[in-house]
Amino acid sequence: MRKFIVAGNWKMNTTPKEGKTLAKAVLKKAKLGKVKVIFGPPFTHLDKIQRLIKGRKGFATAAQNMHQADSGAYTGEISADMIRAIGTKYVIIGHSERRQYFKETNAILLAKTKKALENKRKVIFCCGESLGTREKGTHFQYVIRQLTSTIFKLSPEEFKDIIIAYEPIWAIGTGKTASPEQAQDMHFAIRAAVKKKMGEKLAEKVSILYGGSVKPANALEIFKQPDVDGGLVGGAALNADDFVKIIDAARKTDMGR
Ligand code: PGA
Repeated sequence: MRKFIVAGNWKMNTTPKEGKTLAKAVLKKAKLGKVKVIFGPPFTHLDKIQRLIKGRKGFATAAQNMHQADSGAYTGEISADMIRAIGTKYVIIGHSERRQYFKETNAILLAKTKKALENKRKVIFCCGESLGTREKGTHFQYVIRQLTSTIFKLSPEEFKDIIIAYEPIWAIGTGKTASPEQAQDMHFAIRAAVKKKMGEKLAEKVSILYGGSVKPANALEIFKQPDVDGGLVGGAALNADDFVKIIDAARKTDMGR
């Protein structure tokens, strides 16, 4: 059985105090069932949120980024070791905003992923095409190529700690979601590629999350798709009620599987 996951990517939002209030409200209201819920706060309060969820079954935290070196003269960066030390289990790697604004290449993303895995962290690895690529009709090749030059270079042993997040760039923060069919078609293609590279067992096991304007109003329809195993949620993760509703949609879908 695949793990159903709802991860909140808070991006550069919330002060430590606001973040704590937000996480507390979710902790209070959310019913998880077997769903895993991950908070991705900024580094300034990752430790605080990690302490808050301690002992709460089903909850975890994610760092939004990390550097690929062990330590050293990298002003402004955070290492895998630091993330590990505070007990944060997950790291988001390869978000389109990191690729676009911070020029993170596939080679850098693979190095980051390997470093995170070496440090026994699980990686939420993002992929997804731009609007131009989708309009050209080359989105399947594009996304599979992103994976071929990164996480498909891992050994099967390493790959088992990977979660894939498919996030079409044109749907991120735009209010425009992929249709359930568009999400399913891409998730199916990704799983088929995983099967070819890593074998059937890992393909069946890997959770593939959808990201891009997931909201309470569309979560259920997207989650119901057979190859969608949860969501990576940006904007709606900043509102406790919305995030709880999305978790609820995940729990209902997961129960029906
Ligand atoms: P969004 O962001 O839900 O605000 O579209 C998703 C993401 O970037 O992970």
